[in-house]
Amino acid sequence: MEEGIFHDPVLVAEIIALLVRKPGIYVDGTLGGGGHSHAMLRTLAQAGYLDKSLLIGIDQDSAALREAAGKLSDYGGASVLVKGNFQDISAIVGRVCREKGIEPGAAGILLDLGVSSFQINTAERGFSYLKSGALDMRMDCDAPLHAGDIVNGYEERELARLFYRYGEEPRSRSIAKALVLYRQIHGSVQGTEELAAIIRKNAHGGEKVIKSLSRVFQALRIEVNGELDVLGQALDGGVETLAAGGRMAVISYHSLEDRIVKRSFAEKAKSDWGPKGVGLREPLSRGNIIPVTRKPLVPTHQEIESNSRARSAKLRVIEKVFSGSVS
Ligand SMILES: C[S@@+](CC[C@H](N)C(=O)[O-])C[C@H]1O[C@@H](n2cnc3c(N)ncnc32)[C@H](O)[C@@H]1O
Repeated sequence: MEEGIFHDPVLVAEIIALLVRKPGIYVDGTLGGGGHSHAMLRTLAQAGYLDKSLLIGIDQDSAALREAAGKLSDYGGASVLVKGNFQDISAIVGRVCREKGIEPGAAGILLDLGVSSFQINTAERGFSYLKSGALDMRMDCDAPLHAGDIVNGYEERELARLFYRYGEEPRSRSIAKALVLYRQIHGSVQGTEELAAIIRKNAHGGEKVIKSLSRVFQALRIEVNGELDVLGQALDGGVETLAAGGRMAVISYHSLEDRIVKRSFAEKAKSDWGPKGVGLREPLSRGNIIPVTRKPLVPTHQEIESNSRARSAKLRVIEKVFSGSVS
């Protein structure tokens, strides 16, 4: 990523090709710096669809909304930006559509999960073990829970469980024990540098230290932002928000996220044939989505070379086959 760039969006060509196919309502549930949204609006404009389309951009981070507002200003009339959590996607889209007097039902929804490069690179927000900052890690700066509340407040057992569950960290117990011991000696852990030093001392050596640092920081970030809990709700709400024939694309960056997306989509695509052996001719209910990508799409080597953040990205896309309602 070039210095000064807010966020370099991932898998843009693939998103555009699979998601933007007709005029309508497009929802970017993870607006960030507006990179994907800008590409969506540009594509709609080039196809002559812009005057029959609306882009609703959602982010829980006010700094992202400010950045995106500037980036999308050329398409001002075609976009509405909302501060909110994508777990409320159905209610947010419903409200915007009511205010605009348009029929709800989205043609396309994008969720590009996780944190932006801007969030990681802003030292004082505490997302990076490479930078000196506060133990914060909130994407929504109005949210009550900080990473410091967890690091300095959770019991040893809770910390170990968290590092294992959300970081898949093999040294979770030793790191949790060392953290609690540090608290007993020094009163509290102050900032990312102190936390990183404790992890470094208690991780396995060599390259594994970096892995432990990133896993423990990831676990804390997931807990602070409730990332895995809200994802399931966003997938339900997203499918509900789609019009029949509308598509939802989700980019995940680690296996915990991807597993939730994969299972949720598989569940929604499944028809209910009743108890085994009944031999129904028609299912009791049909799945309301079909997969567009049978296997997740991943970035090309070329993209990974120019944007290291793309390295772990996986894109899954589904299409809705029955219409649903938006609250
Ligand atoms: C990977 S970045 C998205 C980058 C964006 N696609 C672009 O092109 O610039 C993820 C963004 O989603 C936001 N975000 C993550 N979880 C969210 C949630 N539950 N609700 C709303 N926004 C969320 C983050 O604040 C961050 O700005």
